[in-house]
Amino acid sequence: MVGDPAKRLARRVMRRPLEKAGMVGLVAVAAGAVALVLLVCAASLRCSTAFDYALAAPRKLWSGGVSIAAEASPSERARVNGAAAAAPPPPPPAVGEECDLFDGKWVWDDSYPLYDSRECPFLDPGFRCSENGRPDASYSKWRWQPSRCDLLRFDAKNMLEKLRNRRVVFVGDSIGRNQWESLLCMLSSAVPDKSSIYEINGSPITKHMGFLIFKFRDYNCTVEYYRSPFIVLQGRAPAGAPKVVKYTIRVDAMDWMSGRGRWRDADILIFNTGHWWNYEKTIRGGAYFQERNEVKLKMTVNDAYQRSIRTLFNWLHKEVNTSKTQVIFRTYAPVHFRSVY
Ligand SMILES: *[C@@H]1O[C@H](CO)[C@@H](O)[C@H](O)[C@H]1NC(C)=O
Ligand SMILES: *[C@@H]1O[C@H](CO)[C@@H](O)[C@H](O)[C@H]1NC(C)=O
Repeated sequence: MVGDPAKRLARRVMRRPLEKAGMVGLVAVAAGAVALVLLVCAASLRCSTAFDYALAAPRKLWSGGVSIAAEASPSERARVNGAAAAAPPPPPPAVGEECDLFDGKWVWDDSYPLYDSRECPFLDPGFRCSENGRPDASYSKWRWQPSRCDLLRFDAKNMLEKLRNRRVVFVGDSIGRNQWESLLCMLSSAVPDKSSIYEINGSPITKHMGFLIFKFRDYNCTVEYYRSPFIVLQGRAPAGAPKVVKYTIRVDAMDWMSGRGRWRDADILIFNTGHWWNYEKTIRGGAYFQERNEVKLKMTVNDAYQRSIRTLFNWLHKEVNTSKTQVIFRTYAPVHFRSVY
């Protein structure tokens, strides 16, 4: 499984002394916990909750989790007290004890979903499950529950206030795109005048745009998506390459869209990559891997994925001011392309 080297790499990089000193805020999100990430309506819950804490306590969101108080859930306290009905609501998390937000599970929550897709103008037609005829709403009723603490319920207005004058940037494949659209919908549910939310270049929401930047006018904040399934640079084969090479994936260089500070200067920067790192989406279609000027005909997809993550991590160390920017990286959802996994 390609995700494992990535996770090991993430762990190794995070053990470096620099990170220990709190210099690099990077949350490596393991694949396993994201069971329902494909479901548009549930997709961005985890990230958005993490954003909320990231903004509330910027120095805490790193080293694989978030440090917030490990507060017993009401049901656990009820068990201890032997009085289920008397359990008070959990107090807001305090700083100090460890709670790994990424250790938990999806639980059914009847009070969900957090938005109605029919009221959200920012969804691709293809992502509108109910309008496309899905009769049940079961896919929209899942909430992430960390094992050792409770999360505050998502509050769009509160999050918009915290995002005032800030930029949230998603970079990655369609999974990142689903999460980005979902976050737009969740945030816009608190904005009565939907025309105050607009794409800054007037671009329509279609899958064909390389990037889309939505501004929430009254909050001067942008929620942006850059389509970059590999995160590293894709381009034409260099001159003199064998005929089978139609394109190359430059595992040692970042996507050109990373330039001009567009990614680096974000306040929250969410990368995802994984599902395109397979034979079908690379070599079979004539996309080979390249390092410097050399096409590496023998480089395996696994090695290329690992090499590209190193490129990303080096870029993060070099370019990103982690006192300002929270970085989140995630890899696979357990299921995406049915035929591949
Ligand atoms: C709006 O937000 C941007 C950052 O995204 C910031 O540079 C700019 O100064 C803000 N504008 C105002 C009027 O606060
Ligand atoms: C990094 O960001 C912090 C917080 O915004 C700022 O105070 C600091 O000057 C920045 N450092 C550099 C090297 O730009």
